[in-house]
Amino acid sequence: MNILAELRRRFAAALSTLTPDPRPFADMVRPAQDTKFGDFQANCAMPLAKQLGRPPRDIAQQIIAALDVADLCSAPDVAGPGFINLKLRDDWLQSAVNQSAADDRLGVQTPAAPRRYVIDFSSPNVAKPMHVGHLRSTVIGDALCRILRALGHSVVSDNHIGDWGTQFGMIIYGYKHFADRSAYERNAVGELARLYRLVNTLSEYHDARAALAQLEATLAARQQLLTAGEARTDLDAKELKKLLKKLRADVTASEEELASARKKIAAVDADADLKSSADAHPHIARLARNETARLHAGDPENLRLWQEFVPQCIAALESIYQRLDMSFDVTLGESYYQPQLAGVAENLKSAGIATDSDGALCVFVEGNNAPLIIRKTDGAFTYGTTDLATIAYREQELHADAILYVVDARQSEHFDLLFAAARKWGYTQTEFKHVSFGTVMGEDGRPFKTRAGDNVGLESLLDEAVAAARRIVDDNDDAKRDDQDQPAPELDDAARQAVAEIVGIGGIKYADLHHNRESDYVFSWDKMLAKSGDTATYMQYAYARIGGIFRRGGVDRAALRQQADAIRLTAPAERALALQLCRFPDALAGVAEDYRPNQLTQYLFETANLLSTFYEQCPVLKADDEATRTSRLLLVDLTGRIIERGLSLLGIRVAEKM
Ligand code: ARG
Repeated sequence: MNILAELRRRFAAALSTLTPDPRPFADMVRPAQDTKFGDFQANCAMPLAKQLGRPPRDIAQQIIAALDVADLCSAPDVAGPGFINLKLRDDWLQSAVNQSAADDRLGVQTPAAPRRYVIDFSSPNVAKPMHVGHLRSTVIGDALCRILRALGHSVVSDNHIGDWGTQFGMIIYGYKHFADRSAYERNAVGELARLYRLVNTLSEYHDARAALAQLEATLAARQQLLTAGEARTDLDAKELKKLLKKLRADVTASEEELASARKKIAAVDADADLKSSADAHPHIARLARNETARLHAGDPENLRLWQEFVPQCIAALESIYQRLDMSFDVTLGESYYQPQLAGVAENLKSAGIATDSDGALCVFVEGNNAPLIIRKTDGAFTYGTTDLATIAYREQELHADAILYVVDARQSEHFDLLFAAARKWGYTQTEFKHVSFGTVMGEDGRPFKTRAGDNVGLESLLDEAVAAARRIVDDNDDAKRDDQDQPAPELDDAARQAVAEIVGIGGIKYADLHHNRESDYVFSWDKMLAKSGDTATYMQYAYARIGGIFRRGGVDRAALRQQADAIRLTAPAERALALQLCRFPDALAGVAEDYRPNQLTQYLFETANLLSTFYEQCPVLKADDEATRTSRLLLVDLTGRIIERGLSLLGIRVAEKM
């Protein structure tokens, strides 16, 4: 049962005598911050009192008079200015935890109205280096798929790969002019990534050179404006400060642009091979764009190359996904929708939704300056057109009730426009949600880059995590020599390596998932694999330790689970742990509310912490009597099941021994 949802329902009923719209007030029922006062607290009396112009304590009294929770809670009380404190009845909690223990779904009920979700995530641009941002999308998206499925919804995971963009013109140009055949034979994707970087470097070199004079002139002009600004006497101090701040920011921006252009030029000038390639290909950017245009126009040679490249790129991605222990229901990339784009444009135009603007076909959306461009002046369709065609497909063929886009926050404007355009187009019933996320930062405060900055780089990142995990696993297992209970290492080399894979990959995933997805976070190896703290490692050890208890006690877990209703809650640490275990469904529902996996990581972290407190206060194998021992073993067993299930819903595995 979802305790929180149930309490909110009861509150909504009680509040309906006071307000016509009780929902937002009922939603103010929360788990108590301080368990001294109870298990849950409701703060709704205060805002409601304000609205009604009456004393908050009176309102609180009136709410509890109407509140029907006697089967769940002991009598609610009112504290301070009008907080309502609720404490679950011990007998109710005890029966609830026994029910969870007897339930394969661990208390998670199926929804009355299951929804159909399409989740668009990972979605890298293939043939272009996949970056850590895509790892974030991949990890968050996969967790959301698993959690929404566990809640009883139907989910289609869709890898909307970028397999039709300008990067193909770049690699086609690169392939035609710079390919190293034998490198391509050995490792096609590695060679394509090299070609992509090469063409990119050379294009940027020429662009930077072409822009240099203008950038210098802009900087000089801005510096002059700043000097003039500093000399002004007609402004008051505040106005002057504001003006100078802006002028200085302009100068800094110009300086940075110039520095970046100079850096790009210097990098090529310093390398004789690069320099001679650059000199031999002065129009490379335009020519690469021409290759893209030729591909899109159906040029047989380019189409053949594209058909050769794409499957290899996908196979390389596949190996990363396999390592991450995940897969997609469908991989329908941008190219899939290309045949439909002309029809989409015509449809939007004839419905009067898209209009001509300076030769381009656009959808204008109220409140946005920039339109969603459907067809550019040169006739090319866009990323947005493809996204509209994709929405139509997901509606008509996949029957989506909700479409989630797990994509970098930098694309939020695109999605605002896209969703508004889709609604104009008639898709008013669908939930569209940009599940946006922030940037992964390096410890140097700049966006984190994998070492090589390519596909292989992402793989080497995983390797690095596993190697770091292996050192931890070795240390831990070696240290068992000093353990009185089991004075010997438990794992052989193969087992240690398998555990390291679980810990390393799990560590990377968890490090990502436990942050509020919208914030940027700093990637830190040490924090990620710490044995204590809010990490996967901590929980994986908690899980393995539970297994250790059963092994040491010679307890058959399957047989133990046959003992129905045997959990008895007497000690406070038992009660606290049991309450937490009964909140598992609430934690999953919390994730689904706004698509935030960190609701679940936080829950699991609290669970592992409550388990340690429980261990400190309640002997398990050495409990005073048989009934207490059985009860505690069952509680520990259920905790292990919940940690295991919770981690697996985050895409993180556990090991029985570590
Ligand atoms: N390929 C895009 C990128 O790498 C992300 C695609 C996200 N999904 C979408 N339907 N637009 O930035």
